Amino acid sequence: MAGFNIRSFIEDTARAAGQRALELRAYDLETDTKNDGSLVTQVDKATQELIVAKITSLRPTDGFLGEEGLDVKGSSGLTWVIDPIDGTNNFIHGKPFGVSIGLVKDNKPVLGVVYLPETDEIYSAVKGVDATRNGKPITLTSPIKLSEATISNCPTRSPESSLTPHQKVSRLNNLVDNVITSGAAVVSFMEVAANKSAGAVMNEMNVWDVAASLVICTEAGAKTTATSELGEDWQNRNKRYSIVLGAAGILDELDAAWANAQNPSYTAGPPPTGPVNVRRGNTSGLN
Ligand code: IPD
Ligand code: CA
Ligand code: CA
Repeated sequence: MAGFNIRSFIEDTARAAGQRALELRAYDLETDTKNDGSLVTQVDKATQELIVAKITSLRPTDGFLGEEGLDVKGSSGLTWVIDPIDGTNNFIHGKPFGVSIGLVKDNKPVLGVVYLPETDEIYSAVKGVDATRNGKPITLTSPIKLSEATISNCPTRSPESSLTPHQKVSRLNNLVDNVITSGAAVVSFMEVAANKSAGAVMNEMNVWDVAASLVICTEAGAKTTATSELGEDWQNRNKRYSIVLGAAGILDELDAAWANAQNPSYTAGPPPTGPVNVRRGNTSGLN
């Protein structure tokens, strides 16, 4: 297989899977509720099957861990981590979703591909090599001040917190310029990779929500509070990840801001005085 490129094979696989999911969305979707309360459709399962069939045809001894009940122990030491449709709720309602395929070796994600079908964007990265968007290298731009930054988030309920996800988002919104919520973890992560936001704060993530995106964002230059390892227990389906990620210059400040936003006893000082910051939604010039 001289000259064969596994990265572009996985890009093609993710693109084929995402395009197929997009086509199938036009037909009747059979929705079901899983034990954890989240939604699933027959397209989530069919998309996962398509991805597994393609990868298995090339790499029969690799393992698989996928959201839709997929758990195959391989013998090669490599495991593909798949979220066939990240953002099922969005998918059902005609909003952006992503296909996420990561490769884990020695508890570390080493290759990641995310495909966003609606915008036909393919992001990929190999650890220690580079990150690309539609084949072109991507690099995070220099950080701006946190108070001027847009931050991505997927509000997810934490069982141990008395604050609702939206209370946390609104508290964070007082500490940064803007918080955007996509409804799909990989869409939010790719907002950082594509410089559409300066960072992301994400809670209660499964390994299939983060494996591919961590490689892509860090290879694009993002720093993260997560270690480069997923932990030895990463194949435990109940494990959850909390990740703060962003441009190096704002990471510590963002981490502290997100900790404060989640702390019920934290009270921010009075709102800023002085001229209204147009970036904070002063619409007076729009009349
Ligand atoms: C979910 C989405 C959502 C995030 C959840 C994820 P799914 O993935 O990414 O935005 O808040 O934590 O589980 O179930 O649609 O693949
Ligand atoms: Ca997901
Ligand atoms: Ca999913």
